[in-house]
Amino acid sequence: MARLGPGEVRTVACIGAGVIGGGWAAHFLARGYRVVAWDPAPDGAARLTRLVDRAWPALTELGLADGADRDNLSFAGSLSAAVAVADFVQESAPEQLELKQKLLADIDAATPAGVVVASSTSGYGMTEMQTAATTPERLVVGHPFNPPYLIPLVEVVGGKLTEQWAVDWASEFYRLAGKSVITMDRELPGFIANRLQEALWREALHMVANGEATVEQIDQAITDGPGLRWPAQGPCLTFHLAGGEGGMAHMLDHFGPSLKSPWTRLEAPELTPELHDEMVDGCEREAAGRSIADLVRERDRAIIAVQRALGREHG
Ligand SMILES: NC(=O)c1ccc[n+]([C@@H]2O[C@H](COP(=O)([O-])OP(=O)(O)OC[C@H]3O[C@@H](n4cnc5c(N)ncnc54)[C@H](O)[C@@H]3O)[C@@H](O)[C@H]2O)c1
Repeated sequence: MARLGPGEVRTVACIGAGVIGGGWAAHFLARGYRVVAWDPAPDGAARLTRLVDRAWPALTELGLADGADRDNLSFAGSLSAAVAVADFVQESAPEQLELKQKLLADIDAATPAGVVVASSTSGYGMTEMQTAATTPERLVVGHPFNPPYLIPLVEVVGGKLTEQWAVDWASEFYRLAGKSVITMDRELPGFIANRLQEALWREALHMVANGEATVEQIDQAITDGPGLRWPAQGPCLTFHLAGGEGGMAHMLDHFGPSLKSPWTRLEAPELTPELHDEMVDGCEREAAGRSIADLVRERDRAIIAVQRALGREHG
């Protein structure tokens, strides 16, 4: 079967055009694609137009791709009309399993052979969503973050019936479309980023429920605390620097025993030699030759830039 390469995509169908589908539409338009949207709601087209209108000034300021034009957006009269002309399909309908199963089967039936179909689902696995499709091998999860036109991350993962070429194709397409892509090797409920968010969120709810912290204290704890480091370095590299010149290895020796302390309701894993080494090796891979001093300089520059951008400099 002749299949378009990820770099040959011209038209993207956005099925479901609410917060996320509309955000995807704005992103793809800004990257120079034609977008055909479909949404069953009577006010779907009007809502989509408003969303893209509001996003466009920010996208223009960020810099549009060559040929990007807000007028490359059209609204189809039916699901089949939208996907019939698509080189890639992004489904962003409500998060209900039965709805997704039926919709993905309908999309699959009407989309030209070999065209990859991605779902924006926040937490369902493709294995449970692809059950009714005739050609489930081209169905993948492409999980974005709101708003998809500003937050780069997309997590890509297939289901049991998905073929590897579809996962690779979608990953490459998203990369070319300006996204930061994590291609996951296996299905995991909530994917990676939502699991991390959710751990923090559940602990926050526990602390409020128990009167241990207020809503305001929790938000301040992140925006004026660890949240300032995360735009530059994720939680692992952040703790690599918490170990001083000794990096992650020293940090684990120093704080490893704290894993037994009641600092969170989430149970800690056993800090086995294998886990210890994987954390140390992972940080070394990520540092890619940069010394602790280099990373400290990068982190400090980023924190100052974020504080300045937010108008939150102290002193
Ligand atoms: N909101 C977020 O922060 C976020 C982040 C990442 C992923 N997601 C996922 O994106 C998907 C969409 O979420 P949302 O927040 O945009 O919801 P939303 O309610 O804003 O939009 C859903 C849209 O789907 C339309 N719709 C209803 N039935 C449909 C059908 N049968 N076929 C096609 N469209 C239909 C609705 O009219 C609506 O416009 C969900 O799977 C959600 O889990 C949401």
